[in-house]
Amino acid sequence: MHVAITGASVGIGEALARAFAAKGAVLSLVARRKERLDAIARELSGRAFLHQADLSVPERATDWIAPAEAELGPIDVLVNNAGVQHIEPTELAAVDAGEMLLRLNVLTPLRLTRAVLPGMMARGSGAIVDIASLAAITPMPGMYYYNASKGALANASEGLRGELRGTGVHVVTVYPGPVDTDMGRKGYEKYEPTFTSKLSPVGTADELARLVVRAVERKKARVVYPRSYGVTLLFPRIARWVTSRFSPPIKRLPG
Ligand SMILES: NC(=O)c1ccc[n+]([C@@H]2O[C@H](COP(=O)([O-])OP(=O)(O)OC[C@H]3O[C@@H](n4cnc5c(N)ncnc54)[C@H](OP(=O)(O)O)[C@@H]3O)[C@@H](O)[C@H]2O)c1
Repeated sequence: MHVAITGASVGIGEALARAFAAKGAVLSLVARRKERLDAIARELSGRAFLHQADLSVPERATDWIAPAEAELGPIDVLVNNAGVQHIEPTELAAVDAGEMLLRLNVLTPLRLTRAVLPGMMARGSGAIVDIASLAAITPMPGMYYYNASKGALANASEGLRGELRGTGVHVVTVYPGPVDTDMGRKGYEKYEPTFTSKLSPVGTADELARLVVRAVERKKARVVYPRSYGVTLLFPRIARWVTSRFSPPIKRLPG
């Protein structure tokens, strides 16, 4: 099984690399920090194709696919994981950075999926895994561009699953809530601590990766993690009201 993971240098992507490697997969790992990819590949000691790329340039985002498939065979599982998050008052947001986020979090995964899909359909097998966010269901105040990006990715992902029914190609849409990674920790620091935010469950990248691998194996439609957030998909209107009413305020720097 050839599994390709974007944003595999740290966090959830790194955990996914370990979890798929433990199942005997060969890996294509893509990110900007090549030294991190080298270290992970050395540690996993399986066959791996490593590619250093800034995926916020969608026009170049698929450059690695042909060489990766030449080395390891057709991609069986594509994991669209690379992403960034900006948390700031929207009226102060840097437009260029916001639009870069949209290219990385939306346009690149759509391009990658579009690139591998014809091969998967011709073979009658394969899986696309889209790491969206609970922000797609319950958008968080202070994440204007991020909310837009994850809503777009999740919607594309959910629609594609139905379209591909019967083709042998499966789509898993992943809705993580807070997960303890660099992104998760930096995100928490951007909000004033409140009683409710301290009570919110926080997951681990390793457990999320385990659930994603299982979803691919069992052809599950979606993963919501930590599990207690599953209620947000069942009752999105209530969850949106609670989020908008009880979200902690964003820290505003003086000046
Ligand atoms: N942690 C959470 O609480 C949480 C919650 C919901 C959803 N998610 C989603 O889960 C995914 C992974 O998040 P994480 O928490 O693991 O974040 P992370 O620890 O910040 O890791 C992000 C990964 O994306 C890569 N990346 C960022 N910008 C890139 C670029 N321009 N080109 C190529 N790769 C780039 C990074 O690699 P380099 O820096 O080496 O390029 C890194 O491997 C993201 O899509 C995120 O939105 C996370």
